Amino acid sequence: MKRFDFSGKRVLITGASAGIGRALSAQFARRGAILALGSLPSEAGELESWARELRRTHGTEVHTFPVDLLEEGGPERLHHEVSLRFGKVYALVNNAGTVAYGEFHETDWGRQEATLRLNLLVPMRLMHLFLGDMVRSGEGVVFNVSSVSALQPTPFQAVYGASKAGLQSLSQAVRAELAGSGVTVCTLNPPYIDTRLLRTPGYPEDLRFFKISGKKSPEWLAERAIRAFEEGRMMFIPGLANRIIHDLLVRVSPRGVVDAVSRFFLQGASRAAAKKRAGRGRGTEGTNR
Ligand SMILES: NC(=O)c1ccc[n+]([C@@H]2O[C@H](COP(=O)([O-])OP(=O)(O)OC[C@H]3O[C@@H](n4cnc5c(N)ncnc54)[C@H](OP(=O)(O)O)[C@@H]3O)[C@@H](O)[C@H]2O)c1
Repeated sequence: MKRFDFSGKRVLITGASAGIGRALSAQFARRGAILALGSLPSEAGELESWARELRRTHGTEVHTFPVDLLEEGGPERLHHEVSLRFGKVYALVNNAGTVAYGEFHETDWGRQEATLRLNLLVPMRLMHLFLGDMVRSGEGVVFNVSSVSALQPTPFQAVYGASKAGLQSLSQAVRAELAGSGVTVCTLNPPYIDTRLLRTPGYPEDLRFFKISGKKSPEWLAERAIRAFEEGRMMFIPGLANRIIHDLLVRVSPRGVVDAVSRFFLQGASRAAAKKRAGRGRGTEGTNR
C-alpha cells in the first residue's frame, strides 16, 4: 500500500552524480518526481549529463545543484539555491557520504572528521533547514541514507559507524517529535553496495565480509528502496539475510561475540593474513595516513 506518491512532487537528492544517489534519482524520475540533484562542483558536468539523460528518458524536470557540502556554509548555500531556483521540497534524500578506513588511532584525523561531518552534521543541518517549511505545510518526508553499519560495531571504520549510528538516532528522535505533523523521517540501511565508496583509498578490496554478503549493485538497492519509500517504511534494510545478520543477530548475541565477529569480518583477508605471518597477529589494516 502506497503512503507516498512521488508523481509531480519535488525531491532533493544529495550526492546524485554517482552510486546510490544516482540510482535512486532514476527511480524517483520513473515515478514522475521533479528532481533537484546535488554533487560536488568538480562533478558538475557529470551531474548535468545525468540530468539530461533523466529528462530525455522520463520527460521529467531535473535541476542540478553542484555544491560542496563540506565547505563552510555549504548546506546553507544548497538550501538557499534550492529555495530560490527549485521551490519547496517535498522529499529530502540525504545521501551524500564518505568513509575512512583504518585503525581509529592511526587514521588521518582530517579524513575521519570529514566522514563525521558529511555523514552526520551535513544531513542534520539540511534536515534543520528544510523541515521548517515541510512542517508549516503539513506534508513532507526526509529519507536518510544510513547503513547497516549504524546497527553494529564497525572496527576499522569506527567513525563511519559512529556517523551512521548518530544519523539513525537523529532520524528516530525527530520522527517521534514530528508525529501527527504530516511530516516524517525514514532511514535506508543498505548492506555493501558496489560503488566508488568501497574503492576509497585504503578500503580493502577483499574485506572478509564480502565473501558472505557479496556486493549488490546500486540499481538492485534503488529498486527496493523506492518501494520502501513509497510505503513509508521507518527503517529499511533490504534482503532477509541482511535483516537477520545486522538487526536481529547483532541485538541478541553477547557483546563480546559481536565485537569479535565484527573485527574478523571487517578486515581485508590478504592484509590480515600478511600481518599474522609477520607476527603481529593484531589484524591491523591499511591506514589512510
Ligand atoms: N556503498 C556502500 O556499500 C554503502 C552501504 C551503506 C550505506 N552507504 C551510504 O550510501 C550513501 C551514498 O554512497 P555511495 O556508496 O553511493 O558512494 P559514492 O558512489 O562515493 O557517492 C557519494 C556521493 O556523495 C557525493 N559527495 C561526496 N562528497 C561530497 C561533498 N563534499 N559535497 C557534496 N556531495 C558530496 C558524491 O559526489 P561526487 O560524485 O561529486 O563526488 C557522490 O555523488 C552514503 O551516505 C553511504 O554512506 C553506502
